[in-house]
Amino acid sequence: MKSIQLGAINLAYEDQGTGPVVVLLHGYPLDSRMWQPQIDALSKTCRVIAPDLRGFGQSTQAPEDAASGVSMSRYAADVAELLRAIDVTEQVILCGFSMGGYILWQFIRQFPERVKAFVPCDTRAIADTAEARQGRLKTADEVMKSGVEPIITAMLPKLLSERTRNARPEIVEKVTAIMRSCSPATIAASLRGMAVRSDVTTELASFTQPALVLSGAEDAISSPEEMRGIADKLPNAKFIEIPRAGHMTTLENPEAVSAALLDFIKRQS
Ligand code: MLT
Repeated sequence: MKSIQLGAINLAYEDQGTGPVVVLLHGYPLDSRMWQPQIDALSKTCRVIAPDLRGFGQSTQAPEDAASGVSMSRYAADVAELLRAIDVTEQVILCGFSMGGYILWQFIRQFPERVKAFVPCDTRAIADTAEARQGRLKTADEVMKSGVEPIITAMLPKLLSERTRNARPEIVEKVTAIMRSCSPATIAASLRGMAVRSDVTTELASFTQPALVLSGAEDAISSPEEMRGIADKLPNAKFIEIPRAGHMTTLENPEAVSAALLDFIKRQS
């Protein structure tokens, strides 16, 4: 992995291959390793940039982030700063998984001229309900006292389908290891940021770039129905349901996700 100092934080990122630039934004509580199969598949024909977002993986966050939270627009601004710092001047194909999707919406809002096409993957356009928001803020307080193990226990059944949890221990282990490497301060920062994210549903009609909307057929967090609704509201989007996958499509059915992305990327050139 490469890394770069951006003001107070050090951002780690994968940067592999040459060709059209594809940026992969990971979800919560994960890091760029959740995209490993796609980094391998896409970097044969594309330049793939996959940051560990502020605090996650090998990146650092600012001391105040845990208490103040990191907004989705702050993560988006970090990604824009990274692209600027490594001299990526061309438009990018931006893919955002789950929390990475919340960040993707903000990136398109803040830097529309930087986006050639985009891929919301297993994500949502709506904000948290008041109850979900309270739950996140409570968990942000608790994780600082109790550590990440309760988060892992709560998240695994939401991230992976029952089929994967029962039959594919290697995926369960991989996702668990990635979650276990997150610090409580990083988890608290992102929970507080997700809790205050805005509802972008009414803005979807203004996101005019070509889009590919991906959803796991058994996704328990962002259902295929909800994601089909997002695709319907986007002016220029195609929807693909990924079979044999829960929320973590990139690891549960990596071949289908990579094939869908490669086909979409080819159409943009
Ligand atoms: C994710 O996978 O990034 C999270 O589940 C998103 C969320 O908690 O809303």
